[in-house]
Amino acid sequence: MTTDFAATKHLFHLPEGVVYLDGNSLGPMVKTAPARVAKAVEAEWGELLITGWNKAGWMDQPARIGDRIAKLVGAAPGTVVMGDTLSIKVYQALASALEMNPKRRVILSDTGNFPSDLYIAEGLVRTLGGQYRLKTVAPEEVMSHIDDTVAVTLITEVDYRTGRKHDMADITKRAHEMGALTVWDLAHSAGAFPVDLAGSKADFAVGCTYKYLNSGPGGPAFIYVAPRHHETARPALSGWLGHESPFAFDLDYRPGAGVERMRVGTPPVLQLAALEAALDVWDQVDLKDLRAQSLRLQDQFIKGVESRTTGLTLATPRSHMMRGSQVSFRHPEGYAIMQNLIAEGVIGDFRAPDILRFGFTPLFVDEDDVARAVNTLAKIMEYGTWDKPQFKKRAKVT
Ligand SMILES: Cc1ncc(COP(=O)(O)O)c(C=O)c1O
Repeated sequence: MTTDFAATKHLFHLPEGVVYLDGNSLGPMVKTAPARVAKAVEAEWGELLITGWNKAGWMDQPARIGDRIAKLVGAAPGTVVMGDTLSIKVYQALASALEMNPKRRVILSDTGNFPSDLYIAEGLVRTLGGQYRLKTVAPEEVMSHIDDTVAVTLITEVDYRTGRKHDMADITKRAHEMGALTVWDLAHSAGAFPVDLAGSKADFAVGCTYKYLNSGPGGPAFIYVAPRHHETARPALSGWLGHESPFAFDLDYRPGAGVERMRVGTPPVLQLAALEAALDVWDQVDLKDLRAQSLRLQDQFIKGVESRTTGLTLATPRSHMMRGSQVSFRHPEGYAIMQNLIAEGVIGDFRAPDILRFGFTPLFVDEDDVARAVNTLAKIMEYGTWDKPQFKKRAKVT
């Protein structure tokens, strides 16, 4: 192993006494982020004013950072661009893919997909006059439902609740054999394990950066378009910064070159500055090491919880091949148990109706953290301390 995870841990700010097992939802802050953002605010915005678009390279930021993310998801330079939120990128990718497969009418997704992806698909179906259909099947049944009616598969590679991972290469191969295109949501994949978009021949992919890529709350999303589609994918959200020549201010839209056509409007410069700082960490990480260490930590946690507690049921597949970088357990009182854990300094999260989620992010979580998380959970379960009104009061964000 060439990656020094003790060293990467020092690159993050983690509050004193906290074991943070929620980097799969919101990554922690890298220590260099405040200075990098302060520089963008004071030296760039403050001093350069509007000339910052050229002098500080703000206008090129979405493509420049896209290239750095491309490396993490197995994509070539010039195939990934940043902007907007993930829901919007899902819309863009899906709309383009549907337009490229005009004789088909079915969008195939699964019940493990994140609701926003399904809502976006429903909304697009409505906008297109109801001639399309969103078909949602169980995650295990996706393969058998890819037939010659399917225009596009819209799949999140890792199920946000259970951590179950699809086989991207297999599903993409089957989709192509059946004449369908693929849109992959990498929200729980990018920065979680090696992803091979080019090798899998994925058509489109989208992902967020505030989880495993640690860009901070509200950090922008990314979109990938396979090079073979660069000249045919037509952006549904045809904003001015996706235009071939934005500063010509033409009255007619002409798509920009390659993936840049998926840009919409003004990039979030300050958030991208935080992301740039966070991406530096990856210069010292081998993704294969990351995967191996993530699985080691997950196994340590599963073994510890299963041997020391009762009443919690593993929701995550046992097979390494079918896992992302999180472990989930089910319990009817999962919400209260998680609140009790958080009060004890072990932060995970809860997803309705009964899922306790724990993210294993080796960049800043180590074996001692896992041991402490297991001990704390074991104590809570043994003494039933979660069974108190203060842990049952639901907050807006769970
Ligand atoms: C798989 C997946 N898709 C889409 C989204 C929505 O992302 P956003 O809120 O950035 O639009 C999320 C958010 O967590 C997600 O996990």
